[in-house]
Amino acid sequence: MDDFREGNWLLRADAAAGLRALHRAGQQVKMIYIDPPYNTGNTFAYHDRRAKDEWLAMMSPLLASARELLTADGLIFISIDFNQLCELKLEMDRIFGTANLIGNFVWVSNLKGRQLGAGPAGTHEYILTYARDATQVGQLRGRTELLQKLMPTVYHLPQRQVKHDARGAYVTKNELYNTNSKFNEVTAPSMVFDIHYHPQTGAVRTSEVGTLDPELAGAGWVSAHPHPNAKPGLKFHAWRWSRAKVERDYADLEFQVHGRGTHRSLKIYTKIRDFHETALKDLVMGPSTISGQRELQRLGLGGLFETPKPTGLLQVLIEAATSPGDTVLDFFAGSGTTGQAAHATGRRFFLIQLEEPFSSATSGPAGEQGLHTIADLTAARLRAAEVPFHELRC
Ligand SMILES: C[S@@+](CC[C@H](N)C(=O)[O-])C[C@H]1O[C@@H](n2cnc3c(N)ncnc32)[C@H](O)[C@@H]1O
Repeated sequence: MDDFREGNWLLRADAAAGLRALHRAGQQVKMIYIDPPYNTGNTFAYHDRRAKDEWLAMMSPLLASARELLTADGLIFISIDFNQLCELKLEMDRIFGTANLIGNFVWVSNLKGRQLGAGPAGTHEYILTYARDATQVGQLRGRTELLQKLMPTVYHLPQRQVKHDARGAYVTKNELYNTNSKFNEVTAPSMVFDIHYHPQTGAVRTSEVGTLDPELAGAGWVSAHPHPNAKPGLKFHAWRWSRAKVERDYADLEFQVHGRGTHRSLKIYTKIRDFHETALKDLVMGPSTISGQRELQRLGLGGLFETPKPTGLLQVLIEAATSPGDTVLDFFAGSGTTGQAAHATGRRFFLIQLEEPFSSATSGPAGEQGLHTIADLTAARLRAAEVPFHELRC
């Protein structure tokens, strides 16, 4: 049995055989990304024209086998275009269960548009995402800095002043009051109350609206009442936090005192501490097919593979679904983008790539570089990117 417990691995194998080898070794992975042949007949490096049910017959056992390799909190991401999306979705619902559907990303692969027939020029494809068990998976998040760099049009978050308190760094964005007038003293009575703050001591108290403890009145406390509600028959907006939460967690609130003397007023903001991260949106636009091609070119392998995914796309998915040290699997590895991105982010990987010969369009230039199969290209890319890995034929 092969010892897959350490290092990165390229398995030169049919996907089914490669997955079997991982099963035999008792290997589990936190994340799977695959970019299977799309069944469109438009790619030139490999042969992918299959009838739809033949395509599903190929994919279905692989997906079932892949599910068994995922850890309980593992996720699978599948790149797919519109041609095959519906069949794949139904099959994934059957194998993983509809409750484990996490989302469907739109990846803008080519904003210029690719004209393939009479329809509109294609600009995007999808990344269908399922969990082995959605109850074990938290929100998909990304590093704000990376997302803004890769996708400035999707993540243009305003620069916020970073402040510090005894618990560390934070930024503020929203006031504590709930701007939605639907939440008020009728619909959320436990969230309608007065908040009192003592600027000198930092103490915080709460009370029923308009019932400031006489002991507190005039002793340096500043009070915030719930905001007036403009809806007929209502008096107040609710806060976003309950009274119990304000009393317990007020260290996560910023109190700003405005004005002087009897005209003092209080504004209350919630502190955001995980501001280096943000929730992923289901749109990836920036890293494109062209950027994927350029990356291969920079590694001296330009023109040998038509549709490499950009490493930025994989980096975002890998960082959202795994932690450093976790293991990522791609059993349709192609040019090996997943391996390069996994290594760059400190994750371990398994790549499986069939020993498929280059098509006639690319076999000439590939042969000049000593590359005869797509698996040779996968290995060449990893070497060019200085990614350490072991190889195995199975
Ligand atoms: C769309 S490409 C993947 C491209 C890859 N994501 C990248 O960034 O370069 C699909 C790959 O799956 C490979 N493939 C097709 N059938 C396979 C099989 N049964 N087992 C393993 N690999 C297979 C093809 O040779 C091709 O390299």
